[in-house]
Amino acid sequence: MCGIAGYVGPRNAIEVVYDQLKRLEYRGYDSAGIAFLNGGSGIKIVKKAGKLTELGKALGDDVPEAHIAIAHSRWATHGGPTDENAHPHFDQFEDIALIHNGIIENYLELRTELAKDGHVFHSETDTEVAAHIIGREFSRGVPLEEAVRVAVGKMRGAFAFVAFSRQEATKFVAARNFSPLIVGLGDGENMVASDVPALLPYTRDVIYLEDDRVATITTSGVTIQDLDGNVMETPVNHVDWDLSAAEKGGHEHFMIKEIMEQPEVVRGCLAGRIDEGGKVRLEQVFSDQVWHGIDRVNIISCGTAYHAGLMGKYLFEKMLRLPTDVFFSSEFRYSDPLLSPDSLAVFISQSGETIDSLAALRLCKQRRIRTLGIINVVGSAISRECDRTVFTQAGPEISVASTKAYTAQCLVLKLLALYIAQVREMPGVRVDEHVAELRSLAGKFESALQVSAQVKTLAEKFIDAKLAFFLGRNADAHATREGALKFKEICYIPTQECPAGEMKHGPLALIEKGTLAVFGATDPDIREKVGSNIREIQARGGFAWVITTDNDDSLDTVGDLVTKIPSTNDPYLSALLSVIPMQLFSYHLANLKGLEIDQPRNLAKSVTVE
Ligand code: F6R
Repeated sequence: MCGIAGYVGPRNAIEVVYDQLKRLEYRGYDSAGIAFLNGGSGIKIVKKAGKLTELGKALGDDVPEAHIAIAHSRWATHGGPTDENAHPHFDQFEDIALIHNGIIENYLELRTELAKDGHVFHSETDTEVAAHIIGREFSRGVPLEEAVRVAVGKMRGAFAFVAFSRQEATKFVAARNFSPLIVGLGDGENMVASDVPALLPYTRDVIYLEDDRVATITTSGVTIQDLDGNVMETPVNHVDWDLSAAEKGGHEHFMIKEIMEQPEVVRGCLAGRIDEGGKVRLEQVFSDQVWHGIDRVNIISCGTAYHAGLMGKYLFEKMLRLPTDVFFSSEFRYSDPLLSPDSLAVFISQSGETIDSLAALRLCKQRRIRTLGIINVVGSAISRECDRTVFTQAGPEISVASTKAYTAQCLVLKLLALYIAQVREMPGVRVDEHVAELRSLAGKFESALQVSAQVKTLAEKFIDAKLAFFLGRNADAHATREGALKFKEICYIPTQECPAGEMKHGPLALIEKGTLAVFGATDPDIREKVGSNIREIQARGGFAWVITTDNDDSLDTVGDLVTKIPSTNDPYLSALLSVIPMQLFSYHLANLKGLEIDQPRNLAKSVTVE
């Protein structure tokens, strides 16, 4: 998704914002640009379609000296990824340069109104309209922050933008409505970015800008106002993330680094949440009375987080007998959902900024439904707006394809289910036994990662695959769905994923000689049936890669290749572990194909448009 960077201070601002954009590259983008004060000759904008290196070439080796600059990496929404559509954009008078994330929904209306007043546009973007609206106000003689406030009041949609003017080039102004924006506080310098890693080399003290806030940023300080111009007190957060934690740590790609980090993620996620007495401790959640009253759970999320939600449904219904539905956030919002007043809405999100989930959350709040977030990024919008949030504590996830966040999301769901069982004193659930199993889980993740070499050999065999099936039953069906998403995201190979028993009702027609079918077969209760499904595939010439547990040999002579992961006493955790070989498989295959793993085409890390 688009990246925002801005700097004012004694360093060369062009070099700083360029470096900040580099640190946001993981968000995915298709063009980039910079605006800076070019001595006495006004604002200069340099922008190019393509990767940052193109912008670097356009800037040339002899980068001018500037002490205020804003920069942007764009992921096209309105208008294609061209030089003209890249940000920053000027206003009508070239007094103001502006960068923007998100979408201005009423931009056509505003554009028509401005055109009638003689405004001429040079791009197809909604962003340029925002620049012109601000420019029009500014030309009436008001300070930039006031012009921005008036403009924000006229725009509908989800957006964040940053602007500075030729006339007041010692400050820039940032505004947020829905899309993330973070102000970094330095010593004699200040900055802004759409995500924390861009700020880390310069400062650890940050302000997460709230919705409908306008920040005025100079070298000496930051003032935050609401849309009526009232100065707002805003807390400063100290970010503990180590810079190296946001970098690749010696691996070729962030994705493999993040896959390999999972044992640590399991430890981090469980830290302080299971005690010596075999109990689960989740401090931030609701009172016992609330837990007793909940009659239904609705899990609302997107992509990988949706797949974690499917695991949650399996768990809540099986362990707690608590009716649970899982919704795609983008569908939930427009489906006029039936919500029981005693239901709990659970929002799962790595970034905590996914606009579809945020909108669904706001709908639940309007309907006065209790909300709980399972979120990775502390300070993110969804985490702030949920009634309660349990953080996944997985650390920053940079690779667009989510891996470690999924593991942590599934673990928090497990902790939550155990916590509810504990509060409700469910007779059939031995929380202490589950906790004992959780204690050994990080070690099992370490062992599961040992399959990497075997899986790489398999990837070599299927490097030219045109289609792959991902199949399982019960929790294995949900886990293989997540395996399939990784495969299509980074290998660009179509997949068919469905419960294994469903194949014969249609998808089996697609099996040809040599077609790969990945089977999750970790659940002992249903393994025999999965064995029959494997044979159905093989009878049509398909190749069955079977992932099962190391305490079972019943499929050893059945699968064309069998990969063993450590066994657990819990089908939920076994299915979760089975995702590791699938993550590694996709990674190795994409790497063998020489694909751009951390930023797959057409995708973005934080999806802040609907
Ligand atoms: C898949 C992936 C996406 C995200 C989805 C939700 O690898 O990363 O499918 O899971 O966009 O994002 P969050 O969890 O940030 O709400």
